[in-house]
Amino acid sequence: LGLHRRVDTLLREHLSRKRNDGRRFGDSAFSRSSSDDSIGMDDGFPEQHEPLPAPSVLMENVLRQRSLRLRNQQQAWKESPEGQNMQEFRRSLPAYKEKATLLRAISENQVVVVSGETGCGKTTQLPQYILESEIDAARGASCSIICTQPRRISAMAVSERVAAERGEKLGESVGYKVRLEGIKGRDTRLLFCTTGVLLRRLLVDRNLNGISHVIVDEIHERGMNEDFLLIVLKELLPRRPELRLILMSATLNAELFSSYFGGAPTIHIPGFTYPVRNHFLENILEMTGYRLTPENQIDDYGADKIWKMQRQALRKRKSQIASVVEDALEAADFKEYNMRTRQSLSCWNPDSIGFNLIENVLCHICRKERPGAVLVFMTGWDDINSMKEQLQAHPLLGDPSRVLLLACHGSMASSEQKLIFEKPEEGVRKIVLATNMAETSITINDVVFVVDCGKAKETSYDALNNTPCLLPTWISKAAARQRRGRAGRVQPGECYHLYPRCVYDSFADYQLPELLRTPLQSLCLQIKSLKLGSISDFLSRALQSPELLSVQNAVEYLKIIGAFDDEENLTSLGRHLSMLPVEPKLGKMLIYGAIFHCMDPILTVVAGLSVRDPFLMPFDRKDLAETAKAQFSARDFSDHLALIRAYEGWKDAERAHNGYEYAWKNFLSVQTLKAIDSLRKQFFSLLKDTGLIDENPGTCNMWSHDEDLVRAVICAGLYPGISSVVNKEKSIKLKTMEDGQVLLHSNSVNARESKIPYPWLVFNEKVKVNAVFLRDSTAVSDSMLLLFGGNVSSRGLDGCLKMLGGYLEFFMKSDLADTYLTLKQELDELIQTKLLNPKANIYMHEQ
Ligand code: CDP
Ligand code: MG
Repeated sequence: LGLHRRVDTLLREHLSRKRNDGRRFGDSAFSRSSSDDSIGMDDGFPEQHEPLPAPSVLMENVLRQRSLRLRNQQQAWKESPEGQNMQEFRRSLPAYKEKATLLRAISENQVVVVSGETGCGKTTQLPQYILESEIDAARGASCSIICTQPRRISAMAVSERVAAERGEKLGESVGYKVRLEGIKGRDTRLLFCTTGVLLRRLLVDRNLNGISHVIVDEIHERGMNEDFLLIVLKELLPRRPELRLILMSATLNAELFSSYFGGAPTIHIPGFTYPVRNHFLENILEMTGYRLTPENQIDDYGADKIWKMQRQALRKRKSQIASVVEDALEAADFKEYNMRTRQSLSCWNPDSIGFNLIENVLCHICRKERPGAVLVFMTGWDDINSMKEQLQAHPLLGDPSRVLLLACHGSMASSEQKLIFEKPEEGVRKIVLATNMAETSITINDVVFVVDCGKAKETSYDALNNTPCLLPTWISKAAARQRRGRAGRVQPGECYHLYPRCVYDSFADYQLPELLRTPLQSLCLQIKSLKLGSISDFLSRALQSPELLSVQNAVEYLKIIGAFDDEENLTSLGRHLSMLPVEPKLGKMLIYGAIFHCMDPILTVVAGLSVRDPFLMPFDRKDLAETAKAQFSARDFSDHLALIRAYEGWKDAERAHNGYEYAWKNFLSVQTLKAIDSLRKQFFSLLKDTGLIDENPGTCNMWSHDEDLVRAVICAGLYPGISSVVNKEKSIKLKTMEDGQVLLHSNSVNARESKIPYPWLVFNEKVKVNAVFLRDSTAVSDSMLLLFGGNVSSRGLDGCLKMLGGYLEFFMKSDLADTYLTLKQELDELIQTKLLNPKANIYMHEQ
């Protein structure tokens, strides 16, 4: 403990020294230029900066010249023939009629709320109106407008569209910045970025100096980052009276935001959409040819259940209806799903939705309906992929000369993205499979038919059991309306809701804000690194505050992993974590990977966990796929080690030019592997900026593949996500502290084992369905858990032991306990030293 206190003093001294240097700890990468390139989004990445500004007279001249140049360019484009065409299109959008009102309101008020139907021109037009009017007033070079988007794909797509509308390439006056990626130039005055990017900018620039307008888009979604940003901005406004804040929302609960900002004026853009006809499951079943005859067992089974549920549900109170129907649907169909996966009408399962129902509806549209694109709302990437695969095997829907089948997802490649917006050839019907992001943030113009599965994957959070769940849940009425609206953009449309009317009636009006249904760990870390004071005080100022218990859980977690000390102050580990744009546990894994010189495998694990699983599990070949995955496990009882092998195998195959074949044979998604590949590079360069990685890999073995070491580092990151393992005669019993007994997800390589010769499993994710399932896990030993599981913080050994004690009581009583404690102490000190002084060369004993 004495040693720990000494280390602690050292830490404080080190940090204050750094602060006096005027630099953030770590590295120059975190410093930002204060030049006129005020839109520079550091985001913690090194960037080329212009030299500091010259004396102000010179500066003003430069600015004036740039402003004039911008004005001339804008004028020239408007007078060109293409420019005129574009003007004509833009004038046809509903937002145009409100242009003058909007600009006046913005100049007269610090905060303005703008609402309007999706597609009326909020996102693409309003930021442009501001930019144009600033440029026309010859203030172009000194304005800088930031418009936040909840998702990467919309930030990228919108910036590209706006640049095109201005007759420019991206990176001229319009740019974008998303996590780890971006295009912007010296003259970029309008920047579309994700909300997270703006939050990280606030880390290094608390007053948003040099920013003239902040536009927060899609606030009706009530994402956690947006709610968080609003608290910060609300407090910032008095310090920056000239800063303008514009909030944009699609649906009509604008009053909520207006009153949060002291009665800010609200402007509604009236929109026009064509009428859309609603079909619920009742008519859809008839329409797509399902007969409820006794001979037709499968149909009867599915449909009968639904009717029965409906009747039952109607007798119950309204609030219970959804859950009754849902429970029954799922319980009934889970069985059915297992029995006849491919033929059943009702292959709903808790993770998924009625694939065959969708297939039938799509067939119906293609055979019987007028031309027009189809937009299908599904719950997630997995579903979309499996659905796409199923449809590709269909004689009509899989025929490229008749159907253009596309998937749309937040992390897709931009080349594929473009296809979604393009018109297909004559006679070809475009079908887009999308998640709920297509509800508001992107607009596909030619959609006439919408298929709505009624669900969205929503993270929810059970604060009592401290268990995050990512489950498909019924959407809200507002979301269903929004989905329906997507069909009426160019002509009257049709919307197929794949659920009974009574289920719709029982939907909530609006979705619960994310802040109230997700774990708050990253958020708490950010509150502290932004020095926003006490976490619970800060969050009590939100639009709607989260439960106290959720806040306590998050703070406790951050203490356990060593990001906070006992007084909720950031530790050096916490400070490092707040700089990395990943969840704290993945950040910790990266940092430990760097300290313990096993970067290569750990980069793969972290990249894999932050994109998605590259192992494909198609419904009809699940057995084969599981066998393929098991081959990567080499009996080492770890999904994460299997992931490393799969990735490395693919990399080797890539070098031999048969990456695709390899991926195909082994049921791996090439797209995901490529995403992992590029994330690995980005994480690596981020880590280099922290100084934790030696610039000369030659000097030490940065790339150790020592399996036990990798296991231990995975344990360091995933702790306290841990379950005990007891091998029984025929089965393996797993238990966690919070949930009691848990099960292994069938996709895990450990689910195939009859015995796990380790006492513990660490896991990244657990999902609550009817039981709690561990999705992916790695087996670890007692000593790995003891040495790596605990925290590195001023909490010291005592706290660490207490936490481990619950699990390791037996072990602690053994003779080895003392030896381990000493080792643990030494190890923690070494890590602490390294964190305080990333460039320090620390020597580690082999043991
Ligand atoms: O933000 P809001 O939903 O109000 O509309 P928007 O995204 O600004 O889109 C306005 C209009 O621009 C849409 O109705 C589309 O016609 C058009 N647009 C487009 O053609 N291509 C894009 N990538 C984005 C928008
Ligand atoms: Mg929009």
